[in-house]
Amino acid sequence: MYTTLKDVTKQAEELNFTVGAFNTHNLEMLPDMLRAAKEMGAPIIIQTSIDTARYIGFKVLVNVMKAIADEEMVDAVLHLDHARDFDDIKEAIDSGFTSVMYDGSHLPFKENILKTKAVVKYAHARGVSVEGELGTIGGTEEGIHVAEDDKVYTRPEDAVEFVRETGIDALAIAIGTNHGQFKSKTEVNIPLLKEINAVVDVPLVIHGGTGVREEDYAELIDNGIRKFNVGTELLVNWTKTAKETFGETEVNKSLRHNIIPANDAVKNIIKHKIGLFMNVKNPISVE
Ligand code: 13P
Repeated sequence: MYTTLKDVTKQAEELNFTVGAFNTHNLEMLPDMLRAAKEMGAPIIIQTSIDTARYIGFKVLVNVMKAIADEEMVDAVLHLDHARDFDDIKEAIDSGFTSVMYDGSHLPFKENILKTKAVVKYAHARGVSVEGELGTIGGTEEGIHVAEDDKVYTRPEDAVEFVRETGIDALAIAIGTNHGQFKSKTEVNIPLLKEINAVVDVPLVIHGGTGVREEDYAELIDNGIRKFNVGTELLVNWTKTAKETFGETEVNKSLRHNIIPANDAVKNIIKHKIGLFMNVKNPISVE
């Protein structure tokens, strides 16, 4: 079913797992992303930047998502990632996205509250979920670079006030992760996550999932992470595979021969990630 962020994070809260939120960059990889979730029996969030949504077409993306979610009988959310402009958010909501992120983390605290609240008002009136952000995640997002020294961790007391005043459905927190970190792994601040989770009652979101060690997933999930963003790892592996296939191809060979292996690479990573995101402590051996 084509559904909302609020719905899938509620399922995740009840069963103590996290929902994978995977960035797509084109329509080609989309069906296999949803099929990966179907094969794992899990819900999935597909997210895009504004530029990708515009490249594909907001309404085209919505219609394709709805069609695949119905066809594959998978709970799927279409989420707009890191939007800073009301007009972009409005376009996504009016086109049928079921979730949006308003990222006011670069703004003074009170301005972030007021602008996020305005988005919540518009979105909730239309049944759409909203993710907000507090603190700064390192790396590059929407072309804007955040240097290591400029990173600001989320303060638990701010998180309480922010959630209460805005009415958001999920909160992205800064606990040491960086966007686009695919050559190394980061040190996540678990004690800070625990402090935030103890005082905030909305689902928490981790950004920059590519740079998070898989050994840390269970502890993140056990401490309230209900949406887990992974983008760069998929992009890098789709591109690497496509470079190989396109590099070797005859120019008149059907494109699918070059694209299917790249889509398969993405599908396999998503299945692997979801397997870990389901947070099964003692899997029953099938041997
Ligand atoms: P990565 O690309 O680093 O996995 O981060 C994805 C993300 O957080 C999107 O907002």
